[in-house]
Amino acid sequence: MPLQVAALVNGWPSHEAAFFVFPHDSILAMSDVLMHTYQRLPVTFDHGDGAWLVDTQGKRYLDALSGIAVCGLGHAHPAVTAALRDQAGKLLHTSNLYGIAEQEQLGEVLCRHAGMERVFFGNSGAEANEAAIKLARLHGHNRGIDKPAIVVMDNSFHGRTMATLSATGNRKAQAGFEPLVQGFVRVPYGDLEAVRAVAENRSDVVAVLLEPIQGEGGIRIPQDGYLEGIRSLCDANDWLMMLDEVQSGMGRTGQFFAFQHSAAVPDVMTLAKALGNGVPIGACLARGDAARLFGPGSHGSTFGGNPLVCRAALTVCETLQADDLTNRASALGKRIVQGFRDQLHDVAAVEDIRGRGLMIGIELAQPCAALVGMALEAGLLINVTAANVVRLLPPLILSDEEADHLVQTLAPIIRQFLTDA
Ligand SMILES: Cc1ncc(COP(=O)(O)O)c(C=O)c1O
Repeated sequence: MPLQVAALVNGWPSHEAAFFVFPHDSILAMSDVLMHTYQRLPVTFDHGDGAWLVDTQGKRYLDALSGIAVCGLGHAHPAVTAALRDQAGKLLHTSNLYGIAEQEQLGEVLCRHAGMERVFFGNSGAEANEAAIKLARLHGHNRGIDKPAIVVMDNSFHGRTMATLSATGNRKAQAGFEPLVQGFVRVPYGDLEAVRAVAENRSDVVAVLLEPIQGEGGIRIPQDGYLEGIRSLCDANDWLMMLDEVQSGMGRTGQFFAFQHSAAVPDVMTLAKALGNGVPIGACLARGDAARLFGPGSHGSTFGGNPLVCRAALTVCETLQADDLTNRASALGKRIVQGFRDQLHDVAAVEDIRGRGLMIGIELAQPCAALVGMALEAGLLINVTAANVVRLLPPLILSDEEADHLVQTLAPIIRQFLTDA
């Protein structure tokens, strides 16, 4: 029996979700033992290899989403697998009560790449952003501000903990969880004048938190000069510039970190997702005074930065460099964006095809969550975010042929979807 499945936006039921008919006979019944936080697609994967996933029925899918920007090196990468095997046989976890050599090595590597001085390791993007928010509050209190506020952006996404949820610019994600955490001032993304107006009108602001490219918000790439403008306002007002690179970091955009496309360097930067290629790890990096705000007892995490996860992340960093994957991401991104432009230039309802490296968005004139199921049927994993933006976050190890396969599979599906609509 065909089953109706709600289309998804990043694993959450989309407000605008269309329903599509999923014609598999072999739909897997979802276990009722799990809390219903995700509306999952009717597929379960058995194993992966590079850019491909194989489901429990043996069907192969090209993964153009990488577990939402996590598996940048693809699935079962031999170097990551070997490092994890080796480390698992040696030492998984001790505690942050003791020295952890792999954590120190990883901290050095990340600071060198980012121009930062110190790192705190947690387990997720939300936790990395929680650390950043705590740093901003300490910075504010040091300046004698009792109730420090942080400027955050419309359509941003920073996580699901109470503070990061409150910072997130999406009412749907917040609804039902009030009272929200206080101390956030929201402005439109990309609008420097709005940030300047906050500086002129409020004396309680201590930091700005933003994504250098908005991911969940619809692959929004700000105008050239935006990050530099934020940097100047932070310098002029003694604010911390805090960049959330949870989705955009680790080579995906064609630079190690997306801010490196600009001349601005943040005071605080957060990472997670691709840092461990699937092993849960988050990091909050800082430089200057911000790097010295935490002292013993002011923050912590049981698992944060344990030997296993740091070994995985070290291997990710080494592989990105050894295989020149940042430049590869840039070249692949151009090839894919050009491919879609060539194939879809005559389709009026395709409003924009944009990308930086392998953060790619195809914006349509109408909600298009149903495309996720159509692509799945065709053996392709994609995502739709912000209701009408097809989001592609393929792994950086994609071959040219796989990149072309992605375009040649998805472009006709988009065309057909828009024709049928
Ligand atoms: C920019 C950004 N920040 C933070 C998060 C939250 O990360 P996590 O789900 O690991 O807590 C995400 C997740 O999508 C994200 O895209």
